[in-house]
Amino acid sequence: MLESNYNTIVISDLAWGDSAKGKFSDFYASKWADVVVRSQGGNNAGHTVVIDGKKYAVRGLPSGVFTKNVLNVIGNGCVINPIQMVQEIEYLKNNGITDFQLAISAHTHIITEYHKQLDNDIEEYRIHKVKTTGNGIGPCYADKKYRLGIRMCDICYGTFEELSELVQDAITAHSLYYDVNYIDALVNNLLEAGKRLKEYVCDTSLVLEKAINEHKNIVFEGAQGAMLDNDYGFYPYVTSSCPTSAGIASGCGIPPKYIDNVLGIVKAYSTRVGTGPFVTELEDSELTNKIRETGHEYGTVTGRPRRIGWIDLFILKQANRINGTTGLAITLLDVLTGIDKLKVCIGYKDKNGNNISSLPPRVQDIYECTPIYKDMEGWQEDITHCKHFEDLPKQARTYIEYIEHFLDVDVEYISVGPDRNQIISK
Ligand code: IMP
Repeated sequence: MLESNYNTIVISDLAWGDSAKGKFSDFYASKWADVVVRSQGGNNAGHTVVIDGKKYAVRGLPSGVFTKNVLNVIGNGCVINPIQMVQEIEYLKNNGITDFQLAISAHTHIITEYHKQLDNDIEEYRIHKVKTTGNGIGPCYADKKYRLGIRMCDICYGTFEELSELVQDAITAHSLYYDVNYIDALVNNLLEAGKRLKEYVCDTSLVLEKAINEHKNIVFEGAQGAMLDNDYGFYPYVTSSCPTSAGIASGCGIPPKYIDNVLGIVKAYSTRVGTGPFVTELEDSELTNKIRETGHEYGTVTGRPRRIGWIDLFILKQANRINGTTGLAITLLDVLTGIDKLKVCIGYKDKNGNNISSLPPRVQDIYECTPIYKDMEGWQEDITHCKHFEDLPKQARTYIEYIEHFLDVDVEYISVGPDRNQIISK
């Protein structure tokens, strides 16, 4: 199925997330993978998978949980809200999915109530203006770097006294005040969640080394997207982890040499949630409403309506370069059906009207950029039943081929509907 030295593939969103990545992890999980791994992010992600018309949503869990005999790994680079994770596991079990295999890294940092509070309540905190998902992701990663973090091993193997001390240290450092009963309850809730999760907790780097030595097929499932990368995204309007292929190795404890295939997931148009520059953004109109409603463009985690824009090949080119993308999957192509004229962004002009060659590092400068568009013809035919590239209307094929040539990476898949089966292999 893949040309590779190792049987591994990274599934990586090239823009701002929400591009139906979960569908491709699920596609690989159901057709090919033995192991599905998450290496970064936490319950800020939301993967929706549609199987036989039934919709399932997971947030912290890898999307391989829907396929029998697939091992799902949550690596050390993720952050986990243990209480929410217990609920997510219950949700699966209540939906009849009981036989999934799960390994959670003992090194994974955990999100607590005070991380959520820091993410949401403190007006002057810089994260406030970024309009995060409010799940405490940033403060949890920040505590990790401050050496104030609490890890899965602490809630699974630590005592009440040990955990209380860690919590007390962190809240003191953040100048938060809680009464003793609140802290005791918080510690007890974490220990309780630790008891429920302990059966899954292990050293996942050992698990993955074994899987690689046994030539198992491994999917590394990205979360968020390249433009939300803490280094190369539109800083500070970014998430706190590294969602490009570079984050995989350190996020799950394997050497980078094992990563060779990178499938870049590209939505046929652009969306983003949260604040920050969005050069190809469309003003609210009948067109954006149509795209938002047809594409169900509302945050899986927050329910916020997503901002809508034309596809931006300028930033996708940068994302390809940083990710080392070896193939592309174009998703939600069916959402563009019925739009007469499409636009594709092929470059940016700066405030002086000059073409620029790379994305400016300062958002102040990105705000002043204007898009350079190429106009393309749309199509009217329903494409949701197309099984082969040739079945697509000519205009849709031209649209895909243009993206492929511009980005200089082969389009391997085109998704034409939400179901597992609505994928064209090109
Ligand atoms: P955080 O990850 O909750 O800290 O949010 C930081 C920024 O990343 C905000 O603009 C969020 O809306 C955005 N973000 C985080 N996770 C996702 C995701 O899975 N899809 C799309 N945007 C996300």
